[in-house]
Amino acid sequence: MRDMDERGITASVIERLQATPDPRLRRIMTSLVRHLHDFVRDVELTEAEWATAIDFLTRTGQACTGTRQEFILLSDTLGVSILVDALAHRAGSGVTESTVLGPFYVEGAPERANGADISAGLVGEPLFVEASIAGRDGAALAGATVDVWHSDDEGFYDVQRPDRPGPALRARFHSDAAGWVRFWTIQPRSYPVPVDGPAGEMLRATGRHAFRPAHVHFRLAAPGHATLVTHIFVAGDAYLDSDAVFAVKHSLIRDFTEQPPGTAPDGRVLGRPWRRLEAAFVLAEAALGA
Ligand code: BEZ
Ligand code: FE
Repeated sequence: MRDMDERGITASVIERLQATPDPRLRRIMTSLVRHLHDFVRDVELTEAEWATAIDFLTRTGQACTGTRQEFILLSDTLGVSILVDALAHRAGSGVTESTVLGPFYVEGAPERANGADISAGLVGEPLFVEASIAGRDGAALAGATVDVWHSDDEGFYDVQRPDRPGPALRARFHSDAAGWVRFWTIQPRSYPVPVDGPAGEMLRATGRHAFRPAHVHFRLAAPGHATLVTHIFVAGDAYLDSDAVFAVKHSLIRDFTEQPPGTAPDGRVLGRPWRRLEAAFVLAEAALGA
């Protein structure tokens, strides 16, 4: 038996892990213990601070429900989600960049026909979205499944408004024969991530704001291609440089161009100004982008 000291403890724990049968798990656990112990030594963590950390993580777990995942929010606001995303999607040039999924994606969104209006009567500036989907070889991808979701004019998602019946500002489309999806919605706004739990405490304690720049989420899936989870961000948004979850990429910023009253490309007549977004998505082949 060995007495443990500040340094020896790390070697002893790592030695104990070497019998882990799964080599990947062995590597992860060994590195985790090494970094965790280095961190404790580096900041000279006190007993009171360790108790605070345990309490914080306990409350993070307790804040999770069927519709709220506080650990993902913590991962997002600490930049871990976007780091994991960056490691997972090194598909290379010519492919649309990915970004975080976020907590407001809902499986089983209503299927809508191309050209539909998904605003569900919510107030806001009308927005006409035209999205093309292609492979890296430039060939249009017909029949791609395209999920879209975004915040309302006040920065809330439909799932944050239980007072409102049914889905709004979210839908599933299928691209047409030329690889396009078109729909009407309203202009999204920047919004704060939920701050009424431990992740919000962390943001306040570190003097950070909670806002995300305005964006529309897309999840695009086509046979033979890697599923792409991404956003399109509104150019000019005040929070592009300081997104609370670090998910902005230059290549994903677009002008949501202001249009005068008149006739839209699909023949809809608007008596007020409206906006138009055109975005081209390129999906990686399945083997490369998975
Ligand atoms: C979102 O874009 O919906 C989101 C992403 C990460 C954390 C919170 C919200
Ligand atoms: Fe979002």
